[in-house]
Amino acid sequence: MEKVNLIDGRAIAEEIHTETKKRVAAVLSRGIQPGLAFVRVGEDPASRVYVGMKEKKCAELGIRSETFVRPETTTQVELLQLITQLNADPNYHGILVQAPLPPHIDETIVFAMVSPAKDVDGFHPINVGKLMLGDETGFRPCTPAGVHELLIRSGVETNGAQVVVLGRGNIVGKPMTAILCQKSKTANATVTLCHSRTKDIAEHCRRADIIIAAMGVARFVTADMVKEGATVIDVGVNRIDDSSVPKGYRLVGDVDFENVQPKAGLITPNPGGVGPMTIAMLMQNTVRAAEAVTTPQ
Ligand code: GUN
Repeated sequence: MEKVNLIDGRAIAEEIHTETKKRVAAVLSRGIQPGLAFVRVGEDPASRVYVGMKEKKCAELGIRSETFVRPETTTQVELLQLITQLNADPNYHGILVQAPLPPHIDETIVFAMVSPAKDVDGFHPINVGKLMLGDETGFRPCTPAGVHELLIRSGVETNGAQVVVLGRGNIVGKPMTAILCQKSKTANATVTLCHSRTKDIAEHCRRADIIIAAMGVARFVTADMVKEGATVIDVGVNRIDDSSVPKGYRLVGDVDFENVQPKAGLITPNPGGVGPMTIAMLMQNTVRAAEAVTTPQ
């Protein structure tokens, strides 16, 4: 019989959307519609798809959304002006600037311009700092927060667990490490952050109770790197050539799913694992941002 060890990210994301929808209704009953502004620069095909999916989910949940599209040639100053305008706009409780931005724009400066109270992406230095400090009043970046929620709702024990995070990016790897090392009932893990200069990554992985792969290398995690019964979370989205399909490519994760699944205790499918959770956490952050301005404190 086929081993049933999949973490169903779509189902868990739906649970969260049901909770968010109720919170949106409560905010609406106070006469305010939660709103989320997307900023997209240029026509990167993946960014178009991602923002489109997020907008669709906003509509389903009753969140007002609008995408502000600017051409690839937009200057940094123009982009910062747009963000300043959105910071002051009471229709939008959240602002998301879709990455990547064109090379002439400094992402760090742009993310730091978003008001921390509207920073539903969790990329502003104040929110990054709060995450490090374990201050739960900040916004957490959506993908690592989504992975954390997947672990909690799938009953994966993190207390005392050995976790290996693969990849040190600001969007996933670094904040993931910060989340799981906190002194908290839902964290308390011993986290090892591996990256391109780590010596013998396979050896680190073999010790791990939980592997979180977010380094962006197609099928990097192979069965020989995984301890029997370990939980494996695949954050990767990589394009690989495939002449058998009309598009000429297909998307694969950072985990060699076919060979790792039989060995894993629990594993995320990809697609259908982490992806839907990123959107669920974005919607949750947005309703929280709206609650903060409508609920008497
Ligand atoms: N690009 C890839 N992931 C993300 C994300 O979580 N937020 C934004 N704004 N851009 C991204």
